[in-house]
Amino acid sequence: MRIIEAEDELRTAVSAARAAEKRIGFVPTMGALHQGHLSLVSAAKRECDLVAVSIFINPTQFGPNEDYDKYPRTLNEDTKLLAGEDVDLVFTPARETIYPEGCSTWVEVEGLLTRTLEAAQRPEHFRGVTTVVAKLFQLVAPDVAYFGRKDFQQSVVIRRMTHDLCYPIDIQVCETIRDPDGLALSSRNQYLNEKQRQQALSLSKGLFAARAMFEHGERHGDALHVAVQAVFDEYADVSVDYIAIVDPETLEPLETVVDRCAVLIAARVGQTRLIDNLMLEN
Ligand code: PAF
Repeated sequence: MRIIEAEDELRTAVSAARAAEKRIGFVPTMGALHQGHLSLVSAAKRECDLVAVSIFINPTQFGPNEDYDKYPRTLNEDTKLLAGEDVDLVFTPARETIYPEGCSTWVEVEGLLTRTLEAAQRPEHFRGVTTVVAKLFQLVAPDVAYFGRKDFQQSVVIRRMTHDLCYPIDIQVCETIRDPDGLALSSRNQYLNEKQRQQALSLSKGLFAARAMFEHGERHGDALHVAVQAVFDEYADVSVDYIAIVDPETLEPLETVVDRCAVLIAARVGQTRLIDNLMLEN
């Protein structure tokens, strides 16, 4: 496994892979890797000839009062995990490679996709995500890029950006990986103590309550919302940012679900903000 920091070295490796007609699979990450990331790597290994993973904690997607400074930096453990998965290439760019001195270009998806839900609390977040992902796509030039469904809105925004910028990249969104008790894996789970971890189960329990109602035929957005809220009512220490029943592509709130919907939740447990979601389909 090659660990590459320099842009020119990466470009040489990518050109060699292209010359050898290798299908390049790419998993962009911010490190602090867990089984969720490794499931993306496994999908890339199955479907591609060369698998590249980037590790870059992108400063521009964190708001001023968010956790950029304390975000877990675990490069040694991360590269060991990736070597164990037989990844071909790990790209660990320096901040100046991605944001050179004087950098003043942004990539931004406009409209509801980047104004609603997460964006209400984190107004600059998606501009940071799309800017870094666009740059990484330029550098790695993958055929397929893999993202986790846990960051549902992010995956919708990145799909839009990829299409709008005519990148010839297939965006694959892989299922959320959960602990056996339902908690969605997240690098931010590391911030939780045992009591908070129990409280964090409110998110998946809320989603599973909505799923149970959906499976019994409930199709009213309001009723699904009430079912999720009823779970949170049992957790006085968890503060809900939003519960939303939306169209999975447009993110428009749904009064009535016809074929499918996404149930999205964001909530704070102590200082830690967690998100989770579930797709419900006929
Ligand atoms: O999902 C993440 O880890 C990040 O948002 C991403 C896509 C790597 C961009 O920094």
